[in-house]
Amino acid sequence: MQEPNTTKKRMLSGIQPSGDLHLGNYLGAMKNWIGLADEFDCFYFMADMHTITVRQTPADLRRRTLEQMAQYIACGLDPEKNVLFVQSHVHQHAELGWVLNCYTMFGELSRMTQFKDKSAKNAENINGGLFTYPALMAADILLYQADLVPVGHDQKQHCELTRDIAQRFNCIYGDVFKVPEPYIPKTGARIMSLNAPESKMSKSMPEGCVFLMEKPEDIQRKFKRAITDSDTENCVRFDLENKPGVSNLMSIYSAVTGRTYEQIESEFSGLGYGAFKPAVGEAVIETLRPIREEATRLLADKAYLENVCRSGAEKASYVAEKTLRKVYKKVGFLPR
Ligand code: TRP
Repeated sequence: MQEPNTTKKRMLSGIQPSGDLHLGNYLGAMKNWIGLADEFDCFYFMADMHTITVRQTPADLRRRTLEQMAQYIACGLDPEKNVLFVQSHVHQHAELGWVLNCYTMFGELSRMTQFKDKSAKNAENINGGLFTYPALMAADILLYQADLVPVGHDQKQHCELTRDIAQRFNCIYGDVFKVPEPYIPKTGARIMSLNAPESKMSKSMPEGCVFLMEKPEDIQRKFKRAITDSDTENCVRFDLENKPGVSNLMSIYSAVTGRTYEQIESEFSGLGYGAFKPAVGEAVIETLRPIREEATRLLADKAYLENVCRSGAEKASYVAEKTLRKVYKKVGFLPR
């Protein structure tokens, strides 16, 4: 196995295959990852072990994991330039996750806002995994000695905890883990729901969410129904505070066309929302079309996808195993 490039900084991120990937995942995360491969040594994975903290239908989880892999590649994440893998294929995640559980405090886990939110929403299934999830996430990151972790705002607290766990462990045993930094990309839009612009675009509100594999006519319907603002001026102008709906559509349009807000304002000056909304829909459809077509083509080629998964897991496992060996030795496990 070839030694991974060590001169570049290492970057790692994951998305849970808990639902179909959508425009918010694409514009907020994946699209920004594509250009990073030249500058960084990049690892991306499907966080399926995190996904089962909430009850899943097995066949759906399997299908979404493979679809997510196809969509990562279709978006432009080249498996030759990035290490793409499925978390559960690399057993070291579970193993380091257990060890780090023993270096993570009950009090710390109790303070995680995502745990509080998720347990409020899933009162009938507040399982141990949901609670200790941040220790597994720390293992995901620390196994690879990642320098940078591109995450959205909602994961910042987990990244902070990862740093604390790494520092605690290093304090006891010497320098075992690289202490990672969160990486909030300069570009990368925060995309809100089309019909509730105060909330992040999410699969849990499907009417306000545009999925990467969605049919053009469905996408256009969602944009035509997008909430614009209740002011009377009917004018395309960026104003997050007073016009969150229109501003969100402008962010989307800007992200897919590369135009600035000023350019968009003058393009639609005097035209109003009736012209603007379908134009955004059209631009999104054209952006997603090649991705959908390529993902569909890849999904028909199961052998290729399985090959990408296998080779990604091998590369990941090679790096992860080195860290795990070191950790097992440090904590005092008897060598096999
Ligand atoms: N917890 C992340 C989420 O729900 C997914 C994730 C799991 C992740 N492990 C990670 C992200 C490691 C970055 C790094 O979105």
